[in-house]
Amino acid sequence: MTKAYVFDAYGTLFDVHSAVRKFADAVGPDADMVSDIWRQKQLEYSWTRTLMNRYLDFWQLTEQALDFALAKVPSANKDAKKDLLEAYWNLECFPEVPSVLAKLKDTGAKVAILSNGSSGMLDAAVSSANLTDLVDDAISVDRLGRFKAVPEVYQMVLDDYQISAGDVSFQSSNRWDIAAANAVGFKTVWCNRGNQPDEYTDLSPDRTVSDLKALIE
Ligand code: LAC
Repeated sequence: MTKAYVFDAYGTLFDVHSAVRKFADAVGPDADMVSDIWRQKQLEYSWTRTLMNRYLDFWQLTEQALDFALAKVPSANKDAKKDLLEAYWNLECFPEVPSVLAKLKDTGAKVAILSNGSSGMLDAAVSSANLTDLVDDAISVDRLGRFKAVPEVYQMVLDDYQISAGDVSFQSSNRWDIAAANAVGFKTVWCNRGNQPDEYTDLSPDRTVSDLKALIE
């Protein structure tokens, strides 16, 4: 039986590319490239800073990653920075998210977020997407000072809820996040929104879905 449905935030519940999409005209013709580099650098910084033991919170990494992306893409309008950062606090959730979370909550299980995002970023995203009543807890890596994919991040769920790894269903669109959750014994659902090829094949998800609706079907 599943006692907790735990979701990654960025890319899984919230559409990280919605910030650039909202200001695509202002950013310029290579807006999609800016968005991809922004996300990739944000993740790279989280991994390297964890390896270096030099934590900065996810908001600082998000800002530094955007600076890099805007500098890297010649056509990018640097003046869009302020709007893009502001939009990151109010990202859109994917359309199926509210109904899926509501249905899972009805089962009596906990519904939680486990994310690299700072507590402030997560609270803002949850409330701007009107998910406050549907999410029991947003668990941030802030309190550890290390990012995914260290096992201690996933262990926070077990400590908080006093449950076993096999009681958790963990959903993420990031294949590396699924690999790490699988390594600690969570049941895992890879939400492969981008139709990406499989990787980390020794740490496979229990299920692969194209969006979260499949959880309640
Ligand atoms: C998160 C990033 C990895 O929410 O998407 O933790």
